[in-house]
Amino acid sequence: MIELAPSILSADFARLGAEAQAAVEGGATVLHVDVMDGHFVPNITIGPPVVASLRKVSKVPLDCHLMIERPDEFIPAFAEAGADWISVHREACVHLDRTLHLIAAHGCKPGVVINPATPVHAIDEVLPLVHHVLVMSVNPGFGGQTFIRSSLKKIELLSNIRESRRLGFRIEVDGGIHRDTVADVVRAGAEILVSGSAIFEQGNPSENARQLLKSALDAAKQPVQDLSSAVAGAADGANSLSLP
Ligand code: DX5
Ligand code: ZN
Repeated sequence: MIELAPSILSADFARLGAEAQAAVEGGATVLHVDVMDGHFVPNITIGPPVVASLRKVSKVPLDCHLMIERPDEFIPAFAEAGADWISVHREACVHLDRTLHLIAAHGCKPGVVINPATPVHAIDEVLPLVHHVLVMSVNPGFGGQTFIRSSLKKIELLSNIRESRRLGFRIEVDGGIHRDTVADVVRAGAEILVSGSAIFEQGNPSENARQLLKSALDAAKQPVQDLSSAVAGAADGANSLSLP
């Protein structure tokens, strides 16, 4: 099932409730909340109080993407504020297994995130524990960056691993998702699509969400034999993609 998860990072924070609601009216079924601490990533954003405010005005799952050091210290506060999904970075967690169990113990669905430079095999051991794997298709820290094409083969690999190991995690992708990249990530196997600037930066968030979701659903309907040409055609030198 394809779901759109608008990243509120690109919303007008003075009108956050209305902007989030507009995206949901356009078909978004998850709200993605980017939490940055100025240490793990070179930017600072929001914390539990904003999650608590969003919780009051929206019923869809709140997907809290923690781009922070020492996430164990903050997971209880995000859970208390109303987070439904909490994801932590492989690169930020020395004791990742413990951190994922901590998220579950607080009643939230645990997710693990990998940066563009982190290979899929770095999370092999925790795949049975997670509700979702978030593949970063930009280096985390800012909205509006260019999609990194090498993330496509990681999405495809995760999809294959899930099938061969009979696991149930969902595959989410985050960064540079807009109308020119969405079809490729869907064809590679992504199901939860995070998008910030394409939803909130210009125009109407409802209409933007509707159009992006339609492009994603259209791509998902394409026959499987179209996959190799679509993904291979998107490859370029530095980020080339090879299919089996
Ligand atoms: C980047 C964040 C993303 C970001 C996506 O660190 O994790 O969620 O907001 O923004 P766009 O869609 O503009 O790349
Ligand atoms: Zn994010």
